[in-house]
Amino acid sequence: MQDDLDRVLFDQASILRRLDELAGQITRDYRDRELTVIAILNGSLIFAADLLRRIPLPLKLDCLSVASYHGRWQTSGDMIFRQISPPDVAGRHILLLDDILDSGLTINAVRDKLHTANPRSIRVCVLLRKLKTRARAVEPDYVAFDIADEFVVGYGLDYMEQYRNLPCIGVLRKDLLRQ
Ligand code: IMP
Ligand code: MG
Repeated sequence: MQDDLDRVLFDQASILRRLDELAGQITRDYRDRELTVIAILNGSLIFAADLLRRIPLPLKLDCLSVASYHGRWQTSGDMIFRQISPPDVAGRHILLLDDILDSGLTINAVRDKLHTANPRSIRVCVLLRKLKTRARAVEPDYVAFDIADEFVVGYGLDYMEQYRNLPCIGVLRKDLLRQ
């Protein structure tokens, strides 16, 4: 799998060091608040597992699954919500976790949908944010790493459902991307 990378951006140790900082910040911000974390599957699974174990607060965890990709590498904008009935949104502080902020369509769609369930607040936390211009601005509240606008895999991120189990994050070789 590692051979399919053009280069490694973040190895496992650097990711975990950064998650220590991010978790510290989230822990300070959510002290005395009723926190519900909602992880968007499948991409944020590994990120969520490592991040949440660094947050020593009482919290609830829900997961939801949305699809917008149809097996290609560009987002279509049509979201399919595979599960959108998290039990504890009303009156709670929601922290939405996603693997990567690309076009922002996924996070905007999920955030808009959750708003209808009357949370007290919604914040967004992403592992990666691609530096690019977006049709609709999205400002995540917590970002582990900013990256260039390249296709990355590993640490939960996939290309056609592969590479999620790579322990590092790296840029996928261009010759492997099906155009
Ligand atoms: P957005 O809706 O365009 O922001 O895309 C978000 C989703 O697209 C992420 O949750 C990923 O599943 C996928 N995605 C976007 N960019 C990448 C990438 O570079 N590598 C792997 N998946 C990506
Ligand atoms: Mg994906």
